[in-house]
Parts: sequence; structure tokens; C-alpha cells
Amino acid sequence: MIQKKLHRLTHRTIPFSTCGVGQPLLLLHGYPLDNRLWSSVVPLLASSFFCIAPDFRGFGESSEETKSFSIADLADDCESLLQGLGIRNQVFVCGLSMGGYVAMELIERHPDLCSMAILTNTRCNSDEPAAASHRRSVANIALRDGAAEAVLQMLPKLLSQDTFTNSPATVEFVKDMMTSTKASTIAWAQLAMTHRADFSLRMKSWTIPVVCIGGRDDTICPPTSLEQMSMAIPKATTFLVDNTAHLTPLEAPRTFASICQQAQLKTDGR
Ligand code: MLT
Repeated sequence: MIQKKLHRLTHRTIPFSTCGVGQPLLLLHGYPLDNRLWSSVVPLLASSFFCIAPDFRGFGESSEETKSFSIADLADDCESLLQGLGIRNQVFVCGLSMGGYVAMELIERHPDLCSMAILTNTRCNSDEPAAASHRRSVANIALRDGAAEAVLQMLPKLLSQDTFTNSPATVEFVKDMMTSTKASTIAWAQLAMTHRADFSLRMKSWTIPVVCIGGRDDTICPPTSLEQMSMAIPKATTFLVDNTAHLTPLEAPRTFASICQQAQLKTDGR
């Protein structure tokens, strides 16, 4: 059963959910979503993993942010949450898209913490100038016209045609997550992503195994960028999942859970 909890720090509270027993698995959501992104896959993982899924600053049930934050700040929040749970090493970190950027920072800023990573529907390079200017315009739309105006144009890219046709409930669920994201969070997150680090060279020195998962129909982080990331990581294994776009764990939870379980078995050397 998924349990909702709060981690209290001096200046903020981090809402998170947990489920399952065993190997700690930190699940980091993408933008403009929250930890409910993992709700379909977590019950399938609960027999092998202790799943921990936080809401990032400003997202989901977190309180409104009044100050800018960086991707590194989000990584440090995750480290603090794990410390609070008494978990100091041997963590599997799994991040989707923006959550992947946070996972990359977590691996570099807290080198002894993670023993395996799953980077899904994400990329390792930083923004081209056109992407950075698009982010500024999305931030301005959010602050001027509200969250829905800023994020709903992204919906057709988040899900595959197969999901739109066969899973209307998933489409509504994603729409609800997107439109319930606070306008200020959209603006701060766009700013944070604009200034994120480029990991394409830095990953070459990573020693942990990394599983790279992509959606065959993902146009936000297309298979070519997944391939580029996988080539940059010394111990990478890559999976492309059919009939999914940018939200592979939600669109194909069984396939996604099975890849995570195989990765665990391989890491255990069984
Ligand atoms: C996400 O899904 O988290 C975002 O699309 C990432 C991004 O905008 O770079």
C-alpha cells in the first residue's frame, strides 16, 4: 500500500510516498508532474523495492516556493530526505526527464549514495539557445495566464498515440497532474532547467551501472538523445519501450517494472 508521509526540515517540508520492502529505490518525477507519476509502477515494484517518491520543491503537495531553486538544490533535498530515513548508501535512483537531471546531480554531489541509476525519458546535455528561450516564454505564460495555459500545449508530446487511443483514464490523470502544478513552480522549474549542468562529458567517469529507458515515440527526449546519453556512460544498458512516449513508467508500467527488476537481479549478481 502507498503511504503518504512528510519529511520536516528547518525551512521546508518534503512530502513523499513510500511503498514496499527491500532495496531502497528513489523515484524522481518529471515536469510538470508530481510523485503520482509513479503510482502505477510502484505497486508492481513493492515486492522487491522500498520505493520512496518525493514531490520536488513547489510541486505536488509541497508548499508554494517564493524563491528560485536549482536542480542541485532538488538533489540536496533528496539526500536530506534519505538521511532522514536513515539511508546513507546503496540507493537505486530512478529519475524521469527533469527527475533524471536531479538524479545526475545526486550521483555527482553525493558520490557514495547511489549504487545504481535508472535514467528514463531524459537527456544528459544542456539546452540549446532556442530551448532556453522557449523555457522563458513558458515561464512568462504561467505567471501571466496560469498553469493550464503554460503546460497543456505539452500534453500531446507526453503520451503516445496508443495511450491516447486506449487509455483515456491515463490521459485525464496526466492532465490533472499538469494543471494542478502551481504557476510559480512552472516558472521556477523552467529557470532551474535552463541553468542545469551538461553531463555528457562528466558521465564518462561514472562507475555505477546505469539503465537508460526511453519511449520509442518520445519526441521530447527522443531515442537519439537516449542513445547519446547511453554512449556517454561506461556501464549503460539501454531499453526502448514500444507504444510509449515521454511517460514510459505510466504508459507501460509492467514493462517498466520488469526492466527495474531485471536490473536489480543483475546488480545483485544473481
Ligand atoms: C520533463 O518532462 O521533466 C521536462 O520535459 C524536461 C525538460 O523540459 O527538459
